[in-house]
Amino acid sequence: MKRDKRSWAEPYKIKMIEPVKMTTPAERKKALHEAGYNTFLLRSEDVYIDLLTDSGTSAMSDRQWAGLMLGDESYAGSANFYHLEEAVRDCYGYSFLVPTHQGRAAEHIISQILIKKGDFVPGNMYFTTTKLHQELAGGTFVDVIIDEAHDPESDHPFKANIDLDKLEQLINEKGAGRIAYVSVATTVNMAGGQPLSMENLKAVRQLTAKHGIKIIHDMTRVAENAYLIKEREPGYEDKSVADIVKEICSLTDGATMSAKKDALVNIGGFLAVNDEEIYNKACNLLVIFEGLHTYGGMAGRDMEALAIGIRESIEYDHIRARVGQVRYLGKKLMGMGIPIVKPIGTHGIFLNAREILPHLRQELLPAQSLAAALYLDSGVRAMERGVVSSGRNPETGDHNYPALELVRLTIPRRVYTQAHMDVVAESVEAVCAEAGSITGLRFIYEPEYLRFFQSRFEVI
Ligand code: F0G
Repeated sequence: MKRDKRSWAEPYKIKMIEPVKMTTPAERKKALHEAGYNTFLLRSEDVYIDLLTDSGTSAMSDRQWAGLMLGDESYAGSANFYHLEEAVRDCYGYSFLVPTHQGRAAEHIISQILIKKGDFVPGNMYFTTTKLHQELAGGTFVDVIIDEAHDPESDHPFKANIDLDKLEQLINEKGAGRIAYVSVATTVNMAGGQPLSMENLKAVRQLTAKHGIKIIHDMTRVAENAYLIKEREPGYEDKSVADIVKEICSLTDGATMSAKKDALVNIGGFLAVNDEEIYNKACNLLVIFEGLHTYGGMAGRDMEALAIGIRESIEYDHIRARVGQVRYLGKKLMGMGIPIVKPIGTHGIFLNAREILPHLRQELLPAQSLAAALYLDSGVRAMERGVVSSGRNPETGDHNYPALELVRLTIPRRVYTQAHMDVVAESVEAVCAEAGSITGLRFIYEPEYLRFFQSRFEVI
């Protein structure tokens, strides 16, 4: 049998374990109530299997842990910064590296540099922090992703693709001078971890080049996107994931990275650009908001772990097992008849709360309610990706009502086993069987920005 047809079993073995607490239904009921029915406000010690996010939750390799011991904690010019710079150039090809403490810090800096008040920023679906920084800089985000991305049933292989007609229409309507840049994410988180095709990115590059518009790449999960290109896009089957990653980056002008995801570290990120003038401006903002340009909010040891993590993240066996585990859970749920976003994405499984709770109107917060019910059933912590995450329209103050009302079961990298995935699937099945008894939630506290993190709710 061909090697890539065999099981995706992990290309590593376990050297150290971290015990997790098993809780009783009564303990979970109390914890959930105290957390205001928001899974972000639970204490992790009350969680059994934590699928809140794949961000900062990876298990590092023994090499990365060894790298921590090589931390050079000099204020300026740390050796680890130069290792990181080398990894970014080797693996991604960008010329200049601006380290930041995590992704949103890089989004803040690039938004402040490239967006003028009144500008538009088209992108392949919004991401919460990315869009907010674009708005805080005076821009307006415009979703130009293909329509299929908003349809959980569509099995389009590249749901992160940009609709070139929508993009061209926006450029013609507003004028190229008012387009700050095109924001291109690999993969698209809010669509369910869906990939962009190289063909589409090339076409976006061609169109933007014609108008002198930059592409800023949210490369948070670029290795996962590259793996799917290798699997699905004609002409890429024999290319390495590493080469595909580099080709994606080469079609863009700069990138923001939350290294807490693909790059296998618990904290860190960066902005990377090819233009020296933008780099200089970014370094200047960096000293105000993050730190000196050779650490930008990271300790030397964290930069070393990241330099190693970047190289591990583009290894074929790693990425194949990573995506394989997510697919294992997805296929199991589909076999149980649970409605999930299709095709199965790479960083998690997205439950379609609209279909699971057809009796709840969107203002009754179906996905938030489903995530709460799942925790109550088994101690599995998931995350809402629906009306709560979508926030309010800054002009009218009304809720935004996204087409996708989802609960995300996000799989940390290299952390859980297949048996954990079985437990998760069994719990989702049990909750869905009793879905009719879920009555919805309402806000009792709502912060102004990124409300999903800190809002509190009560049961209706
Ligand atoms: N872009 C994408 C696509 C993301 O998924 C995230 C974070 C960020 C940017 C921001 O990066 O957290 O390092 O500041 N996503 C996390 C998640 C929070 O759970 O999906 P950050």
